[in-house]
Amino acid sequence: MALLTKAIKGTKDVLPKDVHKNQYIESTALGVAENFGYKEIRTPVFEHTELFQRGVGDTTDVVQKEMYTFDDKGGRSITLRPEGTAGAVRSYLENGLCNEALPQKVCYLTSCYRYEKPQAGRLREFHQFGIECFGTASPLADAEIISLAKSIFDTLGIKDLSLEINSIGCPTCRKEYHKALKEYFCNHTDELCETCKDRLDRNPMRILDCKSPICSKIAQDAPVVTDYLCEECREHFDTVQKYLKTMNIDYTINSKIVRGLDYYTKTVFEFVSDSIGAQGTVCGGGRYDGLVDELGGQKTPSLGFAMGLERLMLLMEAQNTPFPEANKPDLFVVALGEKATLKSLEIVKDMREEGFGALLDLNQRSIRAQMKYADKLDAKFTIVIGDNEVEKGIAVLKNMKTGEENEISLTTFVSEFYNISLSEQLADLEINGEAFDFSSMFGVSDSFNEEN
Ligand code: HAM
Repeated sequence: MALLTKAIKGTKDVLPKDVHKNQYIESTALGVAENFGYKEIRTPVFEHTELFQRGVGDTTDVVQKEMYTFDDKGGRSITLRPEGTAGAVRSYLENGLCNEALPQKVCYLTSCYRYEKPQAGRLREFHQFGIECFGTASPLADAEIISLAKSIFDTLGIKDLSLEINSIGCPTCRKEYHKALKEYFCNHTDELCETCKDRLDRNPMRILDCKSPICSKIAQDAPVVTDYLCEECREHFDTVQKYLKTMNIDYTINSKIVRGLDYYTKTVFEFVSDSIGAQGTVCGGGRYDGLVDELGGQKTPSLGFAMGLERLMLLMEAQNTPFPEANKPDLFVVALGEKATLKSLEIVKDMREEGFGALLDLNQRSIRAQMKYADKLDAKFTIVIGDNEVEKGIAVLKNMKTGEENEISLTTFVSEFYNISLSEQLADLEINGEAFDFSSMFGVSDSFNEEN
């Protein structure tokens, strides 16, 4: 087969056989965030380029080297979002969320685009789950968002992630730090890459996360930011740590974390794994007290994080973390002949209206071929309907796992199907020696009703 073209380098398809895993990660993340008071926000995939230049910072690798930027037909410079924070802040301001009760808590699932060198865990189109919390300066918020990220990892059953935290201070302490960095890097000017030579004057901290091997080697012995924190930033950092300890959240301080985006102030953190190779940072975030006013709002201390969903998936696969099974069709109706096809249309319609997954063969093949297809689709039950069954109004329902067969009326099909499938599920649970949890059917337990 000669394909016209292939997927773009650094992009990845998610196939139907795997998509339930992504859906599981996404719904778990959204569910945990909801328990912490976060509501989903959806923003456009592209924004005006200046949003990222101002927001993410025009001396960052992301803006200088990695953005997908183009002029649209109206001559506007447009950029595919390289991350979710800048768009969320823009939307928060533009839609007046800033006038609602603070803090405003939003979360998102987004695709992001960065022109990076693709490798395991590093893509050009990747996906993030992120949260942003606008309007709180309290260290309680820093500790809470870290515990939220950890809660997502715990709920997914991920192990062995280490939390590394740092404080990169505020503009006051940053001044002193920049001075020290400049002095240090000035002794290596000739060795720095062209971009970092330019950064030396404009934003020396960005040299610390340059991906060029020579720059990163020089950066290893550079002064660390924690030695330059002002009183307030030091106290904030100490209090965040006190709260983390109270919540039994283990962490290490890594004074080398500066994050690759310009908006961060005070607390920054990363969750890192050593099971997925060089791209081991699964989640990164921190406080950005100056970003909202940088983008035209009032001064609004804020913070957030984002986790890379592809890296999360790699990690879960590397750790053999169990995923729930994909949903299977409840019923496949094998129909032979015109009358049976009409009857099968009625049955699947009624079943679907009651919330069951019900399928029939769109290609109207032989019984054998339809059964083979039902088997491939992993249908839980099948029935075969021909002229005879339509006439009698009765067919045989087959449990594809146990082979058990039951006669079933075609006139009261859905209610009978419900009873048969439920009693077989109960028998299945007994066989497996598990107690059946009736509360899962009704949402609340009997004991809850009695107590309340
Ligand atoms: P970030 O560290 O640039 O932060 O990205 C967050 C996460 O996205 C990373 O930890 C990583 O898991 C994933 N990621 C980044 N680049 C790639 C890539 N090329 N391929 C695959 N995964 C990748 C941010 O984006 C900030 N907006 C996070 C934030 C939200 N800070 C405050 N609020």
